Amino acid sequence: MRDLSIIIATLSLFFSLQHVAICAQIYTPPDNIALDCGSSTSGNSAVPGGRKWTGDKDSKVALIEESSSKSVFATALSQSSSILRVPYLTARISISQFTYVFPVTAGQKFIRLHFYPAQYQGFDRSKNFFSVKVGSYSLLNNFSASLTAQYLGEA
Ligand SMILES: *[C@@H]1O[C@H](CO)[C@@H](O)[C@H](O)[C@H]1NC(C)=O
Repeated sequence: MRDLSIIIATLSLFFSLQHVAICAQIYTPPDNIALDCGSSTSGNSAVPGGRKWTGDKDSKVALIEESSSKSVFATALSQSSSILRVPYLTARISISQFTYVFPVTAGQKFIRLHFYPAQYQGFDRSKNFFSVKVGSYSLLNNFSASLTAQYLGEA
């Protein structure tokens, strides 16, 4: 999903530059949360690029499970050493809908979703379809990271 990430990152940069040009000051997001799904890292794990990821067991982010079949933490069965372990090695997997609740201020937000399709114990990578909604907005609908990567000819 590198291409989509780059597109989203490029969009973010574009809007940031617009903001700089108009306001002549660097945009500092009031809320800056990088969530590492499926990770139990309670502190921050710095990765190249400077972003500090926090595992989704962190108390600032609430998780609401909407079914009695709970989500599980998973670690990819294998991963190329060229792929960053954070945030790509771990995942939260569920067959039911669940919700993350982020404490944020009012106003516009940039949302960036990172994907790396991998094989997890007991889950068929080719059947990983999911949707992402924020409030009434649908960000992804029946999305497959592995099909998208396959289509793009990327890992
Ligand atoms: C999601 O997409 C796959 C592949 O195109 C399709 O087989 C499946 O029925 C779709 N699921 C939903 C809920 O739309």
